[in-house]
Amino acid sequence: MQISVQAASLQTVAADAVVVNLFKGVTQPGGATGALDSALGGALRDLIADGELRGELNETVVVRPRGAIPARRVIVVGLGEQAELHLDTVRQAAAAAAQAAARAGAHTLATIVHGAGAGGLKTADAAQATVEGTLLGMCRYPAPGAKRDEDASRTIDALALVEFDAARIPEIEAGARIGQAVGEATCMARDLANQPANVLTPTALADVAQRIAGSYGMLCRVLDREQMAELGMGALLSVARGSEQPPRFIVLEHNPPGHEADRPILLVGKGITFDSGGISIKPAEGMDEMRGDMSGAAAVLAAMQAAGGAGLNRRVVAVVPAAENMPSGHASRPGDVITAMNGVSVEIINTDAEGRLILADALAYAQRYEPLAIVDVATLTGGIVVALGHTMTGVFANEDHLWGLITNAGEAAGEPMWRMPLEPVYDRQIKTSFADVKNSGGRPASPVTAARFLSRFVGEHAWAHLDIAGTHWWEAEISYPKKPYYVRGNTGVGVGTLVGLLRSY
Ligand code: BES
Ligand code: MN
Ligand code: ZN
Repeated sequence: MQISVQAASLQTVAADAVVVNLFKGVTQPGGATGALDSALGGALRDLIADGELRGELNETVVVRPRGAIPARRVIVVGLGEQAELHLDTVRQAAAAAAQAAARAGAHTLATIVHGAGAGGLKTADAAQATVEGTLLGMCRYPAPGAKRDEDASRTIDALALVEFDAARIPEIEAGARIGQAVGEATCMARDLANQPANVLTPTALADVAQRIAGSYGMLCRVLDREQMAELGMGALLSVARGSEQPPRFIVLEHNPPGHEADRPILLVGKGITFDSGGISIKPAEGMDEMRGDMSGAAAVLAAMQAAGGAGLNRRVVAVVPAAENMPSGHASRPGDVITAMNGVSVEIINTDAEGRLILADALAYAQRYEPLAIVDVATLTGGIVVALGHTMTGVFANEDHLWGLITNAGEAAGEPMWRMPLEPVYDRQIKTSFADVKNSGGRPASPVTAARFLSRFVGEHAWAHLDIAGTHWWEAEISYPKKPYYVRGNTGVGVGTLVGLLRSY
């Protein structure tokens, strides 16, 4: 999608559709909506008076101006109660408007920046959310072989953000640039995670990292099995053993000029391209969804792409351990004892607790960067789905400051975060007499014991662990709240939060 910013009044702009908005309960629209209504001879006020246009959040009405203005269509989108407006309202409304415009046959869109006028949001943030919502509302997984029906051509190719007040243009341009980087990256993360595991292998994931490095002049290193063995990554290798797919250890560095020697922020993403459970095999029902067990890796790589696209001026390093968890004659067994890169020995109680094993070596490897903070993102436990459903991401943080930045970034990104306990008292459940630690603490508090396991590998650094097992996947029947920019499949959760965190840290 081509994105531009224009200083003009909306009723003079030529586009297939122009978008304005309405708060709930407003009967005499002002601002851009009011100006457009006047150009239409009061058509919007008529719709409001007749109760056809009420300003409910994400409600859309399409009006045909029939020559009254250059645009062929006007879309009015509801913003809901003015007092409840926040950035995700804007993101959702922009998505709903784009979808209504595309359904009506429009390919080019001109919109006001939702929420920046009477809404009172910061202009740059509102512009960012408007662009993100439009991009995410149009993000569709390109299923291979799916028949190219008429719907496929119903998409928006160009978006113009239109603002009358020329003084606000620079802020809108800055916000739009970040919004485009985040929106495109989030859509990329979704596409990656929705891909089947026979296509998106650890090797393919490494190719994605190489491609991002090539596009933005980043440094990419990919380690193979032998190199991992030399470093002593016994935990990751124990997971990869059962699969014919070779594992990959991916390191991607964003080192902007002048910041090469800075201590970086370190992002770690769980990259299990398929989780069968291994010898502790999972039940057949729903196992197909375990192709999405690399959603953390997808979010981290996408955040790097967005950092490159937005020209982020700080050092960031991504570490992605990638492997497939399969049963076979080579696979690890329950009861096996292995040693991670930092020398910690682990008794494998359950081969389905593989995420924490690959993350162990990734976190241990991360130590060499002396990072300012480490943030890992992982579809780690079924228990977090039991605790928080598909609505909030569980966050385990060893520091209040980092938690504060993450929850604020998540709030702005429309990715709500909930802090979970990380108390040492839970260590009792992962004690064993056969090794330093065991990889499963059983069912009670399983997301907490998983996080306590990870804490053995983070050294003394500020660290947060995001368990996205519940929020990485969206499905109409089970997930809420409903948002117009979510469709069945991966959500790309984490990308918006990570980029927000990188900008605010
Ligand atoms: N990838 C799963 C967690 C998961 C569950 C992700 C549901 C997405 C949706 C993880 O590797 C796993 O199997 N965890 C086990 C650990 C247990 C065996 C200690 C779990 O949480 O049940
Ligand atoms: Mn598992
Ligand atoms: Zn897993």
